[in-house]
Amino acid sequence: MRKNIVAGNWKMNKTLQEGMALAAELNEVLKGAAVNCDVVIGTPFIHLASVAAAVDATKIGVAAQNCADKESGAYTGEISAAMVKSTGAAYVILGHSERRAYYGETAAILKTKVELALKNELTPIFCIGEVLAEREAEKHFEVVKEQIEASLFDLSAEDFGKIVLAYEPVWAIGTGKTASSAQAQEMHAFIRQTLVAKFGKEVADNTSILYGGSCNPANAKELFANPDVDGGLIGGASLKVADFKAIIDAF
Ligand code: 13P
Repeated sequence: MRKNIVAGNWKMNKTLQEGMALAAELNEVLKGAAVNCDVVIGTPFIHLASVAAAVDATKIGVAAQNCADKESGAYTGEISAAMVKSTGAAYVILGHSERRAYYGETAAILKTKVELALKNELTPIFCIGEVLAEREAEKHFEVVKEQIEASLFDLSAEDFGKIVLAYEPVWAIGTGKTASSAQAQEMHAFIRQTLVAKFGKEVADNTSILYGGSCNPANAKELFANPDVDGGLIGGASLKVADFKAIIDAF
């Protein structure tokens, strides 16, 4: 059966020293704690190797927040999937709405990134989600289906089975305006149905679909209680260990 996962996305926050302190504090808090989900932290690239070496890998998985759409070579400033893997990270967040919106990441670019991540044995946490205008126009199902189809539907069922999805309605990210529990469940069930139609029931049932967007200790329990919500991708609240731990404890 699919895993429950609580993943933090630190975004562009924390110096190396601050990030190491945050990771060490989380590691300490989780030591000996009974936890009912997988825990992942998505750090800036430069933190990955140090954080991966400092945390207990059996308790905390480490994720990059991006990787290049090229394998290697003359791409100044880029970080390849192989480089991410070599740090000890096991996951890579791909397709975050901030990368789509601010860095021009298209469905085609993301398709290549997913393929390179899988080739390098990283687990992609692939983000999808509509903007407010699309929801108001009642196009949210269509938009999310199109995002999944355009970047992931050329994968084999076996490869798709290695992916984690994160539904992050853009209007809920960093706004304090979370999707209601019912809105989250409705979309997650729709996503799972979309996967059943393409990859079959077994793959769909085994795919973890996380919710992201202003998830916090006060709303996590209700969100995660939904049958199709398999955890969260947490931004702001992952920067404070007490909040992040409270979200982990919602399982
Ligand atoms: P917030 O939890 O800060 O709304 O961010 C969500 C997010 O974008 C996680 O990837």
